[in-house]
Amino acid sequence: QTVDAEAIAAEIGEHASFMHKEMFEQPESLRRMLSGRLDHRFATVRLDGLGLDPRDLRSFKRVKAIGCGSAYYIGQLGASLIEDLARIPADAEPASEFRYRNPIIEPDTLYVAVSQSGETADTLFAVQEIQRKGGHVVGLVNVVGSSIARACGGGIYLHAGPEVSVASTKVLTHMGVGFAMLAVLLGRVRDLSHSDGARILAGLERIPDQVREILDREAEIGAVADVVADATSVFFIGRVRGYPVAREGAQKLKEISYLHAEAYPSSELKHGPLALISAEMPTVAIVPDDELVDRNIGALHEVSARQGPLVVVTHEAVEIDVEVARIDVPKNERELDPLLMTVPLQLLAHQVATRLGRDIDRPRNLAKSVTVE
Ligand code: AGP
Repeated sequence: QTVDAEAIAAEIGEHASFMHKEMFEQPESLRRMLSGRLDHRFATVRLDGLGLDPRDLRSFKRVKAIGCGSAYYIGQLGASLIEDLARIPADAEPASEFRYRNPIIEPDTLYVAVSQSGETADTLFAVQEIQRKGGHVVGLVNVVGSSIARACGGGIYLHAGPEVSVASTKVLTHMGVGFAMLAVLLGRVRDLSHSDGARILAGLERIPDQVREILDREAEIGAVADVVADATSVFFIGRVRGYPVAREGAQKLKEISYLHAEAYPSSELKHGPLALISAEMPTVAIVPDDELVDRNIGALHEVSARQGPLVVVTHEAVEIDVEVARIDVPKNERELDPLLMTVPLQLLAHQVATRLGRDIDRPRNLAKSVTVE
């Protein structure tokens, strides 16, 4: 063994990879992130680092998340949390596109730059473009003192600890929690009631233990991984707040297993992708127990009728009347469920990549942080 290999072995301990270690750090790191930030008395959160007082918070008419890759997908999930809880129009855009399209910067939009490393060139340039045009941008960043954190001035530090694996896992979950906190904060200076605020805070407090429960089911998820590992191409589908989950699931799988994976909104199947469904093309479907469950089960029927193998990430109470390999996750509040559903997809990607003998922490052609344009 070289000195490097020995140092790595010492750091990852009993884990098969840094990615594995980082996934299993989540319950602890999430507890740390929440600690001291929940204000139960007023059913809100304390995010002093944002540097925004209630009057500032009320002045925003729109929220826009910008980030790259997985940070963008979680930004999309975050935007839906903000729309749900704060009832402010919100969306997400890849920072890499945003900076090149001469974006219109609105003074009453709160821009949120999302980045693990805080060094992604496209995101940093997007921040500078927003500031050059007089817009207000805050950071949702993991690495303290990084370029994006410094450029933004205000923001929410994710406190996830170092992430070494190219495939981001724990930091993405922290980003989701960060967006949920921001949504509560923006909501509570608007129309989010005390009882709804309290309901989300209680849901956030359950997340670390629920992530632990999901991680404990690694072996069960391993059994499901065979459905995917034998394919050359995999679909991921989800609807509304489940769609960013599908996108992130496809991203994780393609990064470390090199399988072709593509995400679609479930509602789009019949507008094209159904033509590809066959016994050789598995579909991973996100089916939370929420107001859209019947429609999501309809999509499962469409796939199953064309002999497409199905893996379904769902809740125990959901009854599914077609043959599927199911992964049940613990139920939280409907707004927070999608975030928990990203965790089994991390495990699934790791299991598939392991079966295929991939170099999990150093996938080909990718860098942990993309600091070039
Ligand atoms: C995630 O698994 C990817 N490696 C990648 O998409 C990453 O999220 C993206 O490059 C953004 O990086 P950042 O969060 O450090 O800005």
